[in-house]
Amino acid sequence: MSSTIAELERRRAAAQMGGGQRRIDAQHAKGRLTARERLAVLLDEGSFEEVDAFVEHNATEFGMADQRFPGDGVVTGSGTINGRLVYVFAQDFTVFGGSLSERHAQKICKVMDAAMKVGAPVIGLNDSGGARIQEGVASLAGYAEVFQRNVLASGVVPQLSLIMGPCAGGAVYSPAMTDFIFMVKDSSYMFVTGPDVVKTVTNEVVTQEELGGAVTHTAKSGVADVAFENDIDALLAAREFFDFLPLSNRLSVPERPTEDPFDRSEDSLDTLIPPSANQPYDMHELIRKVADEGDFFELQPAHAANIIIGFCRIEGRTVGVVANQPMVLAGVLDINSSKKAARFVRFCDAFDIPLLTFVDVPGFLPGVGQEHNGIIKHGAKLLFAYAEATVPKITVITRKAYGGAYDVMASKHLRGDLNYAWPTAEIAVMGAKGAVEIIFRGKTPEEIAERTQEYEARFANPFVAASMGFIDDVIQPRETRRKVALGLRKLKDKSLENPWKKHDNIPL
Ligand code: COA
Repeated sequence: MSSTIAELERRRAAAQMGGGQRRIDAQHAKGRLTARERLAVLLDEGSFEEVDAFVEHNATEFGMADQRFPGDGVVTGSGTINGRLVYVFAQDFTVFGGSLSERHAQKICKVMDAAMKVGAPVIGLNDSGGARIQEGVASLAGYAEVFQRNVLASGVVPQLSLIMGPCAGGAVYSPAMTDFIFMVKDSSYMFVTGPDVVKTVTNEVVTQEELGGAVTHTAKSGVADVAFENDIDALLAAREFFDFLPLSNRLSVPERPTEDPFDRSEDSLDTLIPPSANQPYDMHELIRKVADEGDFFELQPAHAANIIIGFCRIEGRTVGVVANQPMVLAGVLDINSSKKAARFVRFCDAFDIPLLTFVDVPGFLPGVGQEHNGIIKHGAKLLFAYAEATVPKITVITRKAYGGAYDVMASKHLRGDLNYAWPTAEIAVMGAKGAVEIIFRGKTPEEIAERTQEYEARFANPFVAASMGFIDDVIQPRETRRKVALGLRKLKDKSLENPWKKHDNIPL
């Protein structure tokens, strides 16, 4: 009896060592944690329950029959984050470079299936040399099995990917289909084809970091959401982020007790809007002053910064925030900001997270580049996302809401539940000067100036829209948190259904 128990312990100890001490040391030398160390940071202490620790690959070619490692390059199971259930997989670079074999893929699929059955999120820690070269098409089949599950899980359970090492070729498409991607700076990269292939095909010379590093993907491409300095920062942020998410589309948002009074008045907001219409201000200030304890988890802060997206809590419950940022490109909507916000709005809608939208938008960005790259279709994404969303939608217009962009930004006409405006709001087809120059074309500069003043007095305010019922109320900036909190209370059990359909056809 004792020898069989000892055998279990021996096997378990062997599994813990992954590809062996030499490779663990090499991983540490790169400034990276091992798969198991990462899970220890991500999950509540002692909560990790591993499955499939004894799974081995089934390959025989290329001498593989003699090279077997229990676990086969991925550590899988479940655990808790601040007491809430999560399913996890962590690729183990010390075993065949974390490459994906048929069995490795089966292990990932098993935790994804389990997560779907019980309704819990999946967090994947990616660190892999890609398809297990020795296994050929069996490995590609494994990827596709994972992809299929990513798609079926989308909108059912939240999926978060942390890229903590290489992620190349087919491997990129599983994270790409998850809801959020975090990356580690100078340590992780994602690309479909690496620098060598790029050089051969297009003659471009580029480093791994430039092509697909964390900064590239969080600033330029928008593929990833946030870049972190090291493994530990990324994992701790994932814990914090997880606390905002519902476990599945069947459960409501988590609640966290808060001491922050729902009716906290913020007098400083009364002077947030500068006297001149063209002077910027930082929309983050409004978000933080409305949020519980000023806590806001921003996503994609470095990409399309003319729109801000992220999560906060109001009275302890998660809210998705979308806000134009006057500090960047005057807060215009363009291709990137529309795509960024649209996907976020759809995530919130899928998981029943109310949407709070702060509007200060001068319109869509004009330009040949924008038109030729499809601003019509991309702008339509955000419009579509807001229009189909059935979650509670509260909108506050702080300053400009011009043209088509007024419609897009969760307007009353897109089933906005509560649409507020500050007294400083200007809801119009366009800015006064532009409007007058068109209506009074050919007039002298003096006449234009005079007419502009008239136009401003008549239209650059929230009261025309309010007189038509498009704005439910004009509120003092300082009372924004109270109005939002009361609105969310009222809308907690909102029920609204879209017509039955197989699925919609959002402009892609
Ligand atoms: N299949 C099988 N084994 C792989 C692998 C793969 N796709 N990628 C890496 N490995 C193995 C290596 O053989 C090595 O094994 P060892 O520890 O027994 O020596 C180990 O993983 C570590 O790889 P190494 O190349 O030493 O690490 P590195 O940090 O210098 O480089 C990569 C990492 C990912 C850049 C490099 O391994 C690589 O280019 N891998 C192949 C990528 C690829 O073409 N994948 C298939 C298409 S998706």
